[in-house]
Order: sequence, then structure tokens, then C-alpha cells
Amino acid sequence: MKIKRIIVANWKMNPRTTQEARKNFLHVKKTAEKLTKVQTVITPPFIFLESFSKETSRRCALGAQDVFWKKEGSYTGEISPAQLYDLNVTHVILGHSERRRLGESDEIIRDKIKAALEYRLNVILCIGESERDTEGHYLAFLKNEIKKSLERIPKKQLARLIVAYEPIWAVGAKAKFADTPESLFETSIFIRKILSDTFSKKIAFQVPILYGGSVTEHNAENFLKNGGVDGLLVGRASLDFKEFSKILKIAQNVECAT
Ligand code: 13P
Repeated sequence: MKIKRIIVANWKMNPRTTQEARKNFLHVKKTAEKLTKVQTVITPPFIFLESFSKETSRRCALGAQDVFWKKEGSYTGEISPAQLYDLNVTHVILGHSERRRLGESDEIIRDKIKAALEYRLNVILCIGESERDTEGHYLAFLKNEIKKSLERIPKKQLARLIVAYEPIWAVGAKAKFADTPESLFETSIFIRKILSDTFSKKIAFQVPILYGGSVTEHNAENFLKNGGVDGLLVGRASLDFKEFSKILKIAQNVECAT
């Protein structure tokens, strides 16, 4: 378990205006700056990045929700890692289930991860099964996602990798429930085992693991305390700066079991 907790806000395609986005960001930043044991990362839509780029700090960092794998050129509609780096963006979410649903494959995700790591961005790689079965097939699915997305990535670049476990059935407004801390604990051990078998023990323990999927101010403490994870990836609850600030304070004060 790392000393610092990493709490990531994934705003997805929200809010509608720069004014609302700035208000949310500045409120969160005020709380985040005071927290010594938490690294906060805010990932707004691309269009707001520039407006926040001069306000970021180590405690309150800026992330993007996607990145292309080329540095520059004729790629209409895409954003490169170099362009993100230029805006003080330090993190990027890749492999999110909402992008996989739009057709992003493990191979595309791997190319994006490779490019992002080369540009010294911290990669938050999302993995997660769509259904939980009792025979453990979902574990084989997670293993395959990790192995394929990280294929041929140089070991030394994995120092900037973060893995976010987001079971798809727990993500978004249609989700009926979040994972439980007990089952998350088992899955986080499994993820570390895959990282250990694929790379090394050192990497398995150094890569932070986050949980995402219906995180709220009410369940955040239990996940952080008993889920065996280093932080959280928060969707809907990050759009309300009051609730998100509460989650940040919980992360600062939580005692972990391990
Ligand atoms: P919710 O917290 O809204 O379920 O979304 C989780 C998520 O997808 C974060 O990336």
C-alpha cells in the first residue's frame, strides 16, 4: 500500500460550460491543496484542459480522458501526447469501458499506452469485466486485458502505470450496485499476481491499483480501508464538488487495514 492515495475525477462529457467547469475545478483544488496524503487528479473533457493548465500542482494534477498514439500529423480530430504534455497534463485515462464500447481494441489501447508513457504521462489503464460469474471466468478476462494492453511495453516505463479496476456492471447511472470491498480485495490481489507473473514482483507492488464504479461519499472509506487498493476513480460523484471534496478528505484520513 502506497503512502499517498490517488483519487481521480473522471468528469466524462461534463459539464456543459467552461464557467461551470472552472467553478468545479477551483473548489476541488482548494480542498486538494490542503491534503498531504492524497494526490488528486482531475480529468475534464479536452476543451477545458487549457483553462486549467496554469492552475495545476502536484497535489492537484490534470489528466486527460484519451490520447492519440502519434506525435503530430494528419489525424483529424485527434490529440497527441505532446499536446497534452504542453498543457501540463500529467495523467491520461486509457482503456475506459465507455471507449472500448465505441470500438477501441486492446491493440489500440496498447499503442496509446506506449505513446503516452514515452511522453512521460502517467497512464491510468482501465480494466473490468462486463459480467461477474461464479466460475471465475472474469478473472481470465481481466488477465487477458492486462496482458494484451501491456504487451511489449518496456518494463522501466511501467513506473508511470496505474491500473484502475472498473467492473462494467458497476459503472454509470444504470449500475445497480458497486463492487464490495471484500471482492475488490480478492481482485486487487489477482491483478498484482498477474503483474508479478508478467513483469516482476517489484512492478506488481509499485503499480497503484484504483477502484472505480459507483463510488460515493458513503462507500469510499470502506473501499480504501478494506479493498486492497491505493485509490479511487470517481465518475458521477466527482461532478458535485462538495461530494468529491468529502471523498478527498476521507482518503486523507482513512486508516488502511494492510
Ligand atoms: P461512476 O462513478 O459514475 O459509476 O463512473 C465510474 C467511472 O467510469 C470512472 O471512470
